[in-house]
Amino acid sequence: MDHSFDTVLVEYDDERGVGTITMNRPDALNALNGQLRDDIIAGLESLEERNEDADGVALRAVVLEGAGEKAFCAGADIGGFSDESAGGTSARSHYDVIRDFPTPVIAKIDGYCLGGGLETALACDFRLASEGSTFGFPEVNLGILPGAGGVQYVEKLAGPAVAKELAMTGKHISAERAGEEGIVTHVHAADEFDEAVDEFVTDLAGQAPLAIQGIKKSADMAVHSGLEEGLAYDSSLFQELLKTEDHAEGAAAFAEDRDPEFEGK
Ligand code: COA
Repeated sequence: MDHSFDTVLVEYDDERGVGTITMNRPDALNALNGQLRDDIIAGLESLEERNEDADGVALRAVVLEGAGEKAFCAGADIGGFSDESAGGTSARSHYDVIRDFPTPVIAKIDGYCLGGGLETALACDFRLASEGSTFGFPEVNLGILPGAGGVQYVEKLAGPAVAKELAMTGKHISAERAGEEGIVTHVHAADEFDEAVDEFVTDLAGQAPLAIQGIKKSADMAVHSGLEEGLAYDSSLFQELLKTEDHAEGAAAFAEDRDPEFEGK
C-alpha cells in the first residue's frame, strides 16, 4: 500500500486519510537535488490518486518531513546547483505543486530548515517545528538569494526587516524566534513533538474536506489579491459549500448534539 520512490518514502494512513511524505536523503541532510524535487511531486500525485475511487474525499491531510535526526531539509543540493536551481525535470516546481495541492500540507520540521528547505516549508500550509530546529537562508554565503520566493514569503509572514535579516546575514534563527515572527505555526518540545503533530493533523483530517479545500484557496488568494477580489471569491465559495452534503451533515450533527461525519461530498 505504501509507495517508495528513489528519494522519498510515501505512506498513507487509511483510517484518518493522512499521507506522509518523507524526504529521504539523510546523508545529505535531505538536500534538494533534481530527483528529490521530482519525487516530492510524484509522491503527492500518488497520494492524490487515493481520491479517485473514493466516495467523497479520501485524502484529508499530508505531512511532509525529513528523514534522519538532523534536518527537515538543508536546502538546494550544493553539489548540483547549476542544473537544478529552478527545479528538477518537471515542468512545475515542487513548490508550486505543494502550494496548489488541494489538500493541506503540513511541514513537520525537526532540525535544519534552510534555503530551499525553508522555501519548501513556506510552500506548505502549516509549519510545525520541534524546539531545537533552526531556520535560515544561507544563499547569501554563496553569493545568491533564495530563488523560490523565500524573501517574498517571509516578508508576508514577518515583515521586510525579518526577511532581509534572514536573507542578508545568512544566519540561522531558533524555532522559538521563528515562532515569534510568525514564520512557524507552532513550536513544541522535542519529547512532545510527534504527539503534538499527530493531534494537529488528526484534527485537520477530521474537518469537512471540501470546506478545508475552499479555505486553503481562500487564504492563498488573500496573499495574492486585493480585499475586494478576495471577498467576492469567498462569497462564491461559501455559496458552493452551502450546497454540500457535508454542510447538511454538520448542521444535523449540531442539532442532534453529536460529532459530524464528513465525507467530502
Ligand atoms: N547540499 C548538499 N549536501 C549537503 C547540504 C546541501 N545543501 N547540506 C549539507 N550537506 C551534506 C554535507 O556535505 C555533509 O556531507 P558529508 O557527510 O558527505 O560530508 C552532510 O550533509 C552533513 O553535513 P555537515 O555539514 O557535516 O553537518 P553539520 O551539522 O556540520 O552542518 C549545516 C549542517 C546545515 C549547517 C551545513 O551542512 C550547511 O551549512 N549546509 C549548507 C546549507 C546551505 O547553504 N543550503 C542552501 C544552499 S542554497
